[in-house]
Amino acid sequence: MPDTAARIRHMTEADTEQVSALIHASWVRTYGPLMGEAKAEQESAMKHQPAMIAADLKRMHSESFVGAAPDGRIVGYAYAKVEKGVLWLDRLHVAPAEQGSGLAAGLLHAVIVNYVGEPSISIEVIKGNDRAIRFYEREGFVTTEERDACGGIGGVPTLVMRKAISRA
Ligand SMILES: CC(C)(COP(=O)(O)OP(=O)(O)OC[C@H]1O[C@@H](n2cnc3c(N)ncnc32)[C@H](O)[C@@H]1OP(=O)(O)O)[C@@H](O)C(=O)NCCC(=O)NCCS
Repeated sequence: MPDTAARIRHMTEADTEQVSALIHASWVRTYGPLMGEAKAEQESAMKHQPAMIAADLKRMHSESFVGAAPDGRIVGYAYAKVEKGVLWLDRLHVAPAEQGSGLAAGLLHAVIVNYVGEPSISIEVIKGNDRAIRFYEREGFVTTEERDACGGIGGVPTLVMRKAISRA
């Protein structure tokens, strides 16, 4: 039987357009119902243009991974960065057809392996994004803080969740 599973690898600049499109579609689908479609569209259009994703790829102390289907389509993306001494999983997006496949966990684990030595990994998740919250809980994250503005987007309450990273 052919192996149809997506493979996880470091992102390259050639992936930028596909990653930008994946994030944008994921934002509108996931956050549209939570913050309003116009706001999700507008925020994503501002933050996820290919040039911005390409710049993030080169940022110091960051890691970008993709899940690539056998035909080359990018079906998952994870981006992490250390900011002011804290490791944040800044973005994690998996295409709907790949959700439930284990790809999300694989991307998260790829990030964690690359940051062995950091004490913990944190994420900020919008309240009501129940699938993501359940995913992070299952992966050992616990809520450490509640915020009333998601990454500066006013009126969108979030949870900060953190997971300790073991050294061995
Ligand atoms: C968040 C995301 C990366 C998780 O990947 P995934 O493949 O969907 O995750 P999994 O299927 O492994 O785990 C999801 C869990 O939520 C459960 N779940 C599914 N739908 C749910 C819902 N509506 N409410 C609550 N839990 C739900 C699943 O049963 C599973 O839990 P289980 O393992 O205990 O059965 C993916 O859903 C995604 O890309 N979402 C859109 C973007 C996003 O929200 N990113 C996170 C930003 S912080």
